[in-house]
Amino acid sequence: MATFEIKNLHVTLEDGTEIVRGVDLAIDTGEVHAVMGPNGSGKSTLAYALMGHPAYTITGGEIMLDGENIAELGADERAQRGLFLAFQYPHAVPGVTVTNFLRSALNAVRKAKNGGEDDPISVAEFRKLLASAMDRLRVPREMMGRYLNEGFSGGEKKRVEILQMAMLRPRMAVLDETDSGLDIDALKIVAGGVRELVGPDMGALVITHYQRILNYIDPDHVHVFVDGRIVASGGPELAHTLEAEGYDAFIPETVAGGER
Ligand SMILES: Nc1ncnc2c1ncn2[C@@H]1O[C@H](COP(=O)(O)OP(=O)(O)OP(=O)(O)O)[C@@H](O)[C@H]1O
Ligand SMILES: [Mg+2]
Repeated sequence: MATFEIKNLHVTLEDGTEIVRGVDLAIDTGEVHAVMGPNGSGKSTLAYALMGHPAYTITGGEIMLDGENIAELGADERAQRGLFLAFQYPHAVPGVTVTNFLRSALNAVRKAKNGGEDDPISVAEFRKLLASAMDRLRVPREMMGRYLNEGFSGGEKKRVEILQMAMLRPRMAVLDETDSGLDIDALKIVAGGVRELVGPDMGALVITHYQRILNYIDPDHVHVFVDGRIVASGGPELAHTLEAEGYDAFIPETVAGGER
């Protein structure tokens, strides 16, 4: 069994509309899977549902992480088991500095790993870990004292998401359009950071609209996501085909030549 297995997952909105309509995906540590698909096809809904966002209801299927079905667990419990989501639109958290946020997130995971007993990281160890992650991802030191995401530029938010991932070292990272809004240098740094962390202890699901980040991340598998389902899968070459030809070939109505 793969580290992370999504089996026949169905997700609805609060009004009952089904958005994710039967998704199967298996991702092992050491692997990067990319998901590409048109606006509104349900990619972020899938990501939110994986993480346990209360606005998205899982009506069928399983989410297996290290052999355990986590589909019924709360978002915090999923995070403690090693699932991580970098949001497409990270929210501001006024009053909480980046440093304090990272420390709390890290300590929550450490507590879970320690059988529910507090096991706070020492100040010295935390500083060292943070400094090395910040250097690698080239996040300016001055950002650490600011309130999380408040007034951050689009690219700054994305970098801090990846910084969080580097600190938490999840088993499975879901990155929802982490590349959008990044300048060319930041894109390389962030993609390099992801590639560096993917290995025997971590796998990743990368949702993106653009082939460009995949040049640096080098995915093992690329999936085409249309209308709540994975409709095709292939290697990195599939991303090039999509970039050149768009999604028409994968949208049933277009193939049939009918009205959309
Ligand atoms: N909380 C919500 N309330 C109402 N509608 C929602 C909600 N979340 C998602 N939807 C709808 O579900 C559909 C899928 O949205 P989703 O954000 O998952 O698409 P996406 O594939 O991530 O698109 P994009 O590429 O633009 O990010 C859209 O029609 C969207 O309007
Ligand atoms: Mg989205």
